[in-house]
Amino acid sequence: MSVRERGIDASQWTSNGQIERDLLLTDADFVRIRELIYQRAGIVLAEHKREMVYSRLAKRLRHHGITRFTDYLSRLERQPDAKEWEAFTNALTTNLTAFFREAHHFPLLAEHIKHKQEPVTIWCSAASTGEEPYSLAMTLLETLGPKASQAKIIATDIDTDALSKARMGIYPQEQVRKLDDARVKRFFQKGTGNHIGLARIRPEVSALVEFLPLNLLAPQWPIKGSFDAIFCRNIMIYFDKDTQAKILKRFAPLMKPDGLLFAGHSENFSYISDAFKLRGQTVYTLAKQ
Ligand SMILES: C[S@@+](CC[C@H](N)C(=O)[O-])C[C@H]1O[C@@H](n2cnc3c(N)ncnc32)[C@H](O)[C@@H]1O
Repeated sequence: MSVRERGIDASQWTSNGQIERDLLLTDADFVRIRELIYQRAGIVLAEHKREMVYSRLAKRLRHHGITRFTDYLSRLERQPDAKEWEAFTNALTTNLTAFFREAHHFPLLAEHIKHKQEPVTIWCSAASTGEEPYSLAMTLLETLGPKASQAKIIATDIDTDALSKARMGIYPQEQVRKLDDARVKRFFQKGTGNHIGLARIRPEVSALVEFLPLNLLAPQWPIKGSFDAIFCRNIMIYFDKDTQAKILKRFAPLMKPDGLLFAGHSENFSYISDAFKLRGQTVYTLAKQ
């Protein structure tokens, strides 16, 4: 009787320290998964991500009652338009984020927009579960006061599950407690009753943000410039240099002449594209203004 038939879930450690699995993932399957997610989302999956791939995709196989990855992948490839591609992609993205992550960027943005005459527009291009675009919205409200209501933040991500969470705007209070008290009071509603331990983004913050699905690799982007700022943080590290260069080239015409491009802490665009020049601490401006 197999592990699965006995009703024991997933993995067990064997005497030689190997993980024994109830679903079969071969070397060839892993290579195929890496190729498919690269073609679909540009994500380069490192060799050591095998365990992560197994555990995340195992849920999809179980959902379909399939026991071999090869069968799951063949089924996926036979149906290029299947809904399953979305679930496959969602399963393999990394959504790590936080409110006011890389905090030095927010005062820089505030300084950049505070005297703008026209309504401010920002694109947050890998918005994950919403903490980043909501931090931008809070910054606009703090900087522009009532004028912020004319501003617009377009928040996009490839992962539709992350976007659903983002739209709900409900977070564990633990995550919100890291913000300073004034921000928590002004921008969040504390959950009560069944919602105790949760905090919800206030409507005046969420009103500034529009969430849309967008794959940065797609031939067409369903958005128009020109943006005062583009945030593209902690996503380029998952792409190879060629993909990064292509994306940067497409960002340039979507920016206002004085627009700012914000990158993640371990991302350096200077050597990848001549469209942007470094202005300081992972913030870029157009090379030709
Ligand atoms: C590590 S999170 C970074 C979130 C946020 N920008 C931050 O810095 O906190 C990376 C995000 O990029 C998204 N992503 C991955 N591939 C993508 C693609 N091809 N197009 C758009 N977004 C993508 C993932 O779904 C994930 O939410």
